[in-house]
Amino acid sequence: MSLLDLDAVPRTLLIPLAARAHGHRLFPWLDCQDVEAESLLSCLQESSQPLLEDRIAVLNVLWRTRVLKSWGASFFKTHPLGTGVTLGAGLSHHFQWLDTGGNHWVDADLLPVHALRERLIHFTGGRHANRAIDLRQMGWWQAVTSGLPQQPYWVLCEGVLMYFTPEQVFEVIHAFAESAPVGSRLVLDAISHLGVGQARHSLSVSRTGAEFQWGLQDTQELLAIHPRLRLSAHRSVAECYGWLGWAAETTWMPWTGAPLYSMVMLEAA
Ligand SMILES: C[S@@+](CC[C@H](N)C(=O)[O-])C[C@H]1O[C@@H](n2cnc3c(N)ncnc32)[C@H](O)[C@@H]1O
Repeated sequence: MSLLDLDAVPRTLLIPLAARAHGHRLFPWLDCQDVEAESLLSCLQESSQPLLEDRIAVLNVLWRTRVLKSWGASFFKTHPLGTGVTLGAGLSHHFQWLDTGGNHWVDADLLPVHALRERLIHFTGGRHANRAIDLRQMGWWQAVTSGLPQQPYWVLCEGVLMYFTPEQVFEVIHAFAESAPVGSRLVLDAISHLGVGQARHSLSVSRTGAEFQWGLQDTQELLAIHPRLRLSAHRSVAECYGWLGWAAETTWMPWTGAPLYSMVMLEAA
């Protein structure tokens, strides 16, 4: 199985992988110190150079990695036996940073990517699992969580939902809210709705043939999906650009509705 055998959206997994492996050359202050990404890239025999030319995507990935590491660390400090889940995991390996010594972790993705993970990433110990799921199918929550402790979950879905239709995004978030134990978190990233249909302008995504189908009009719309949902945290990539970023975002907000790129953490109350 090579990346060329994958469909357009699964092929996008190379973009964040390349950013985590080599993005520190462009943005050293955002170095995420991913110990796996570089060797995974060499196993795939894929050149990351063209992807690194998309500096915006590299910045977005490294920034979101810093945010999710910080949110994940504070969650697992409170819930050291909580379970971590990455939905649409690609070839990410966040358990390297968020292993408390007692928690479980599940990396879930479509069957072809799951097969790639099984072949390339080797875990020792019994607290990690790869699972094959399709987030567009009913029952994915049960497939991900069966046999796991009923502790609060920390669920990460990064670089995935912008490729789903709005109805599919609704269903994914709704399924989390329906089933997750109280105190669980769902962390996701989102583009502004202005980015929908604009993948041709992205140097890296346009190479894959994937298209952006969902973007936020307003962060608050996520809370309307289910009465259990609360906004636990929210960050905009504008923070990487200093006061100029904030000024530009404030000016654009009436049109963009939501930040051009943001991270949101929802809590199941
Ligand atoms: C841009 S990659 C992100 C990978 C990973 N989250 C990361 O940041 O490195 C998008 C991922 O979403 C996965 N994906 C797309 N549609 C999916 C679906 N219906 N169910 C599960 N995973 C899906 C793809 O296979 C791919 O691994």
